[in-house]
Amino acid sequence: MLRGKHILVGVTGGIAAYKVCYLVRDLKRAGADVKVVMTEAATKFVTPLTFSALSGHAVLGNIWATDQSTLSSIGTQHVDLANWADAYVIAPASANTLAKITYGLSDNLLTIVALASRGPIILAPTMDADMYINPVTQQNVTRLQERGFFIVPPEEGEHASGLKGPGRLPEIRAIIETIERVLDKASRDLKGKKILVTAGPTFEAIDPVRYIGNRSSGKMGFAIANAAALRGATVTLVSGPVHLETPRNVERVDVESAEQMHDAVFKCVATSDAVIMAAAVADYAPERSAKTKIKKGATNKPVSLQLVETPDILNALGQKKNKRTILIGFALETDNELRNAQEKLKTKNLDLIVLNSLKDKGAGFGVDTNVVTILDKKGKTAKLPLMSKLDVANEILNRLKGLL
Ligand code: CTP
Repeated sequence: MLRGKHILVGVTGGIAAYKVCYLVRDLKRAGADVKVVMTEAATKFVTPLTFSALSGHAVLGNIWATDQSTLSSIGTQHVDLANWADAYVIAPASANTLAKITYGLSDNLLTIVALASRGPIILAPTMDADMYINPVTQQNVTRLQERGFFIVPPEEGEHASGLKGPGRLPEIRAIIETIERVLDKASRDLKGKKILVTAGPTFEAIDPVRYIGNRSSGKMGFAIANAAALRGATVTLVSGPVHLETPRNVERVDVESAEQMHDAVFKCVATSDAVIMAAAVADYAPERSAKTKIKKGATNKPVSLQLVETPDILNALGQKKNKRTILIGFALETDNELRNAQEKLKTKNLDLIVLNSLKDKGAGFGVDTNVVTILDKKGKTAKLPLMSKLDVANEILNRLKGLL
């Protein structure tokens, strides 16, 4: 898996930097071509000479370097490095560097390359336990993960400071396994394909203050967008109101109502090779949305809302379907699951439908895992075990690839 792969290793300042010498050695032994970029702080822990000897390349770090021998071209080394790498692994990733990457700061070569890179980036957060469990660091890690950075979780144990807790650099083997898994996920096999994904709930306004919504977090749709972008597809993500970061290399269009989602989808569909409707579109909306806030006690009568059906986006896509565009829908069911999903697949004229049952443990709203059954129009049914939403996304994309 690693043979011939270009692996860029970013080293930040931390006592665990010395262990990364073994990472570079093992990657080389596995046949990878390895280059190392260090922050200035990292050079206080391990000398660049050590990494040069282990990697067989001059260590990079000086953004102002003009020495021809270490550079492919002067002035663009950050872009060259980002393009060169099949994967970029930052280990140890200090709290400071994680924060910089979260906010797009790029004051050294390591962080500039992180900002310039479109390829997969793996981070191994490593620091004293109290720094790691600090909510600021935790929030940064979550945000980076949502954007599609891969996190190798730190190990728990004793730190050089004497503190005990999470934050230790994981075993080198665990980092290498993550790199292999990531390379597999970032296979670029969907390069050149345009995929339109919808995600999240829709909000249907009652008045300027209130709305009808649902519990969808958007995580499944965002995972599909992220997975497709990693595999090289050009991805547009039409999202209802969610609290999630946009995955890297994904174009996001924010909408609120079913009608707005309908319009946004139909704007892009003509140029899309596939549409994956993971959004939990509201089925009903208030017939009229009040222009001003509905006041309490305006009448003595009970208040009732007249609801009308929203446009069924997927159904409309199915009825106008051309041969080129693959249509994938979701079905969220609580009973008669298979029968209802088969019915939706047929009536909405879909190529695939992904059945979610709220009965399954680990499936449903807000969680990072899912249990799905994928049905195709030939009647084939595949029930998948409990998986991360990213793995479910790749299962869907594997089947999509076979249809494209
Ligand atoms: N869908 C849509 N537009 C709607 C409602 C649903 O495009 N107005 C899409 C969803 O994104 C999903 C699929 O249709 O991919 C099925 O959604 P689901 O809510 O399971 O089924 P419905 O068709 O709404 O039927 P019901 O709620 O009666 O089960």
